Amino acid sequence: MELEKSTLQIGLERPLKILHITDSHIALCDERDNERKKALAERLGSNDREKYLQEQLAYGREHSDLIVHTGDLIDFTSHANFDFARKILAEEKLFFAAGNHEFSQYVGEAYEDFAYKMNSFREMMPGLGAPLFFNARIVGGVNFVSIDDSYHQFEPWQMTKLQKEIEKGLPIVVCLHAPLFEQSLYDYHISLTRPGSSTYLVGCDEEHLPDDEWRAIEIRPRGITAEMVEFIKSQPQIKAVLAGHVHFSYVSDLVHGKPQFVTGCGYKNVARELTIL
Ligand SMILES: [Fe+2]
Repeated sequence: MELEKSTLQIGLERPLKILHITDSHIALCDERDNERKKALAERLGSNDREKYLQEQLAYGREHSDLIVHTGDLIDFTSHANFDFARKILAEEKLFFAAGNHEFSQYVGEAYEDFAYKMNSFREMMPGLGAPLFFNARIVGGVNFVSIDDSYHQFEPWQMTKLQKEIEKGLPIVVCLHAPLFEQSLYDYHISLTRPGSSTYLVGCDEEHLPDDEWRAIEIRPRGITAEMVEFIKSQPQIKAVLAGHVHFSYVSDLVHGKPQFVTGCGYKNVARELTIL
């Protein structure tokens, strides 16, 4: 396992160890799934992905107070993937934020909007055993709050629930799938992509949206999204953001003194050990 190490200073009495993992992209299928899903699973292969995830979880069980998984646990919806995800998410130490692939029926086939997401959600009934759209858990005096931003948008009800968590008065670490826009992260992402391709961070302004109209419409902040991004950046009880989705590791301040820890992908066996002091 390639273990990155980071620290976050927030004045805790007792240090807290977090294992941050993300983007496992497990790709399982069985006889209950159709031929298209089987072809997808075959193309991706799965042995190392599961092995790496189990290795990361074993490390987290032994060395961490909490394991945070920020989504894309599975690569696409399938009966076998749902069964696997339910087993993984039953792990007591694991705290989960859903990714876009949790709702992906056939990777990249469709415009990913609320209706598509809810279709996939209905397909996985009765769910995966962990809340997928908003969750909160207090560990060692820190409130970990997961908010689904997997389609690059936030909903008003998520803002209401986040404000309720803030009323608890504890320091908060926000766990997201897609990172929030920050200039140096954007520049780094662009430097890794092919000319003409785009980034997919949450809260991009017009200047930083993809040229591709199809992608721009998906990513352009709608409704309460821009307000929520500003709220997460400026609210003083929110101390840091954990995110994945871009498949590389990068740490930068969203605003001065508030880091966003983006962690590389689990299927390449990357993980981050975050010590909160
Ligand atoms: Fe993703």
